[in-house]
Amino acid sequence: MKVFEKTKLGKLELKNKIVMAPMTRSRAINNIPNDIMKTYYSQRSGAGLIITEGTSPSINGSGYPRIPGAFNNAQIKGWKAVFEGIHENNSKVFVQLMHTGRVTAQINLPEGGKVLAPSAVFLEGEIYSDEGMKPHSIPKEMTLEEIEIAQNEFVEASKQLVEAGADGIELHSANGYLLNQFLNPKTNLRTDNYGGDFKNRARFVLETAKKAAEAIGGDKIGIRFSPYSVFNDLQGDYEDVVPMFTYLAAELAKLNIAYIHIVDQRVAFDAPEFTTDIKKTIKETFGGTIIVGGDVHKAAQADALLEQGYDLVYIGRPFIANPNLVEKLKTNEPLAQPDSEKIYTAGAAGYIDYV
Ligand SMILES: Cc1cc2nc3c(=O)[nH]c(=O)nc-3n(C[C@H](O)[C@H](O)[C@H](O)COP(=O)(O)O)c2cc1C
Repeated sequence: MKVFEKTKLGKLELKNKIVMAPMTRSRAINNIPNDIMKTYYSQRSGAGLIITEGTSPSINGSGYPRIPGAFNNAQIKGWKAVFEGIHENNSKVFVQLMHTGRVTAQINLPEGGKVLAPSAVFLEGEIYSDEGMKPHSIPKEMTLEEIEIAQNEFVEASKQLVEAGADGIELHSANGYLLNQFLNPKTNLRTDNYGGDFKNRARFVLETAKKAAEAIGGDKIGIRFSPYSVFNDLQGDYEDVVPMFTYLAAELAKLNIAYIHIVDQRVAFDAPEFTTDIKKTIKETFGGTIIVGGDVHKAAQADALLEQGYDLVYIGRPFIANPNLVEKLKTNEPLAQPDSEKIYTAGAAGYIDYV
């Protein structure tokens, strides 16, 4: 089957076309990657490529409890050990850089962290904290200086991670986090060059990608998008959604980035239907590697996506309770189900004790 064949991602050789999707697991005490994280990722390195859980490039972006960061030495040192474990097993790793922006409550941020967003648009509802559910905090609209600082934080984290051995980084521009907050008309009400028409709303993301590409090389950068998603209270369909993603794909092609990764939660999370064939539009405009997936739990489903011309297939939840997922898919073995109580709890239980 195609999904088990070797392939190339830029200069990297991948042993198969299965990508472990980024999944927040909240094990990083004090936001520092640790030994159990090294074990967890090593156990799952049957995947051709691992995209790590969302990792904050900034103290301001660490919006959930115990998510790892990449903005201090202890964090980078922790990541270095994780990368070594993955590489020992002949897999590759991109770290997903996730700045949570408005998706947080002040209590979740380390001391000194600020809740920042393109505009001061409050996210309704509550967020998990280690002291129970809390309302989201009202974000502060970023100044131009704060915009530049945030971009530089992405660049600095990218540099440090690659120096520590990461094969690349993924900009998390999906699912309603900071980069996505700039793209979306519901969360970006700015009247300066970073808001308004789709080109202006794309500016923060494209400038960040360009600066990161200058620092580490375009071939070490991937990006994740979630067109039509309403997750974290975004507007799913808006009038310039197709021009927006066409423009992003065209501009990112010029930077020769490694891949575009498209979230498709329609089956798995009952997300709204796509009103256009946006995945195909992005693929045709970008011309490079495209990662797709969503509710894939059999090799035949992955092959069907590859038959449509996509290059790599992401798989998320099945990796939680099946560390040897790739072997199980090869033999069509039934998959174990995760302990839903322990998805985000601290410690080894429900994390590295699946066989
Ligand atoms: C526990 C959990 C944590 C997740 N954390 C992230 C994350 O940090 N970054 C991200 O882009 N997506 C995250 N996702 C979404 C997954 O990457 C993926 O898109 C989703 O699970 C659907 O794929 P699946 O049907 O193969 O599970 C998460 C999903 C789950 C279940």
